Amino acid sequence: MARNQRDFYYRQAQESGYRSRASYKLKQIQDKEYIIRRNDTVVDLGAAPGGWLQVARELSRGKIFGVDLQPIKPIQGVTTIVGDITSEETIEKVLEFAGDAGVDVVLCDAAPNLSGNWAVDHARGIDLNEAAFECAEKILKPGGNFVVKVFQGDMFKNFYDKVSKSFVYTKAFSPPASRSTSAEIYIICKNFIATSLRKGDVYDVLIESMGNSGDGIAYIDNFVVFVPGTDIGDEVSILLKDIKPKYAFGKVISKEEADIIRQKIENSEKKDAKKPVKYKIEPDEEFDEYDRAFE
Ligand SMILES: C[S@@+](CC[C@H](N)C(=O)[O-])C[C@H]1O[C@@H](n2cnc3c(N)ncnc32)[C@H](O)[C@@H]1O
Repeated sequence: MARNQRDFYYRQAQESGYRSRASYKLKQIQDKEYIIRRNDTVVDLGAAPGGWLQVARELSRGKIFGVDLQPIKPIQGVTTIVGDITSEETIEKVLEFAGDAGVDVVLCDAAPNLSGNWAVDHARGIDLNEAAFECAEKILKPGGNFVVKVFQGDMFKNFYDKVSKSFVYTKAFSPPASRSTSAEIYIICKNFIATSLRKGDVYDVLIESMGNSGDGIAYIDNFVVFVPGTDIGDEVSILLKDIKPKYAFGKVISKEEADIIRQKIENSEKKDAKKPVKYKIEPDEEFDEYDRAFE
């Protein structure tokens, strides 16, 4: 991003009382994808100096919780702690905040200390991303949203593919307020699927009850799966056709079809395990200093 444009967000933030120009990135993400709703409970991982916390508080007015290695100056209506998001001790505190009810939104704009070496910084960034995703999986309500900043590089695709399996909708977005020289991009994930069941999986199930619309219902790991065309007591093989945050749909298939699909899944898993993992070292890149524009 050109210096005058950078100055634009810097000045805007100063004039509007935001603690960092990064506030505008979250505003632009919100304008595009509507991730925070009124009264949402929000956790922000890597939150200092607090620009995103300010925006989250404005949008939600609900309970907001921020974590950072650095202390965050108080913001009305926001709870903050000092902690490392890759440590169990910190995650325990986040879990305590989330309670049994869980939270609606997890944000992560955390950035590692940059070395200037693209490959090293990318790998450090992915470590933070993995920690944030693990935390999000533990605390998000079904249907919740997750936004995470990733530094692009070889491991981006793997991480993107992994998180996208846990949400109905996933998109990579570069907000205009990100600098054009920056390798950062945001993965926006909506509608958390609170189960490890995946579309295309095959199961043998017992139909235990009936739904209001007349579909049989099976339970897999306590997750509701609607199976059209079945009755209580039926024992059937099903192919999972669609996974929603709180339930799934399965289609009855024959035992023979189920065996063929299982065999195909097993073969493709074996093939994947044999694939060599490639790491490409990018040329060093000079990074702009991150968004600690002013504190
Ligand atoms: C770009 S800043 C976040 C800016 C923030 N979104 C805002 O609007 O003010 C990145 C933050 O990630 C934090 N961070 C980096 N590694 C961390 C870790 N392991 N645990 C917690 N915070 C971390 C840094 O201390 C830094 O404050």
